[in-house]
Amino acid sequence: MLNSRHLMAHSTYIPEVAHEANQAQIAHRVPLLVRLTHWTFTLSFFGLVVSGFAIILAHPHFYWGETGNILTPPLFSLPLPTMLGGPSGWGRSLHFQSAWLAVLSGLLYVISGVASRHFRNELLPAKQEFSLGAWRSCVADHLRLNRLTQNDGYNILQKLAYLGVVFVAFPLMILSGFAMSPSITSVLPWMVEVFGGHQTARTIHFFLANLLVLFLLVHVTMVALAGFTSRLTAMITGRPAAHKEIQ
Ligand code: HEM
Repeated sequence: MLNSRHLMAHSTYIPEVAHEANQAQIAHRVPLLVRLTHWTFTLSFFGLVVSGFAIILAHPHFYWGETGNILTPPLFSLPLPTMLGGPSGWGRSLHFQSAWLAVLSGLLYVISGVASRHFRNELLPAKQEFSLGAWRSCVADHLRLNRLTQNDGYNILQKLAYLGVVFVAFPLMILSGFAMSPSITSVLPWMVEVFGGHQTARTIHFFLANLLVLFLLVHVTMVALAGFTSRLTAMITGRPAAHKEIQ
């Protein structure tokens, strides 16, 4: 059976197949809830980054283990003065509000992604995508900025990055966030014990936040290289933009 990738490859010269390819693409629309939660999550992500930065400005020192304060030696410090901008009460409020929006959006995204088989059909790499040849051609395409504008689904690098963010980085972010909450750890002490202490959880949370910001920078750069308006329209309306050949 032809899939949308095969149909695309032929669409430049067989009009009937091109029509079939469009139909196949429309069938691969990103589900509404996946798109909706992507954007509510993005909103919450900006709230988390801004408020997280405000919290760090109040205490830019990081420790390992259970305790850490101005009187104990830090694991490392950011080159910033302590308490810049005050104790940042607003930063904490905004951080908690944004975190709950992120958790709810994330949960809804995962539930809808599973229910609509979006993860299985669009994000789970096929066996053949792990072959050396497939990797080589995908990396070469990226290095030459080749074929980035094609609409034939996510490539292996995209799939692994998205799966890593959704199923590894973000759950760890939530768990390390919960581990810093005294009200949660007083009921579920294992939440902080698995990290080896409150301060370790805070330091890991900080590194994960950096990783996610790095992901966002690469993600938005790749979207811009692939055609900012068309990819954005696709992620808003769900309808892939018209196919372009840029070989
Ligand atoms: C201004 C910020 C953002 C823009 C412009 C943006 C844009 C997009 C676009 C256009 C797609 C579809 C990709 C394609 O068609 O090739 C996408 C998918 C995705 N984005 Fe973003 N994004 C943003 C922020 C974020 C953030 C903050 C995260 C998570 C930390 C994120 C995670 C994802 C994931 C996991 C997917 C795959 C969704 C799926 O199909 O299940 N994005 N994004």
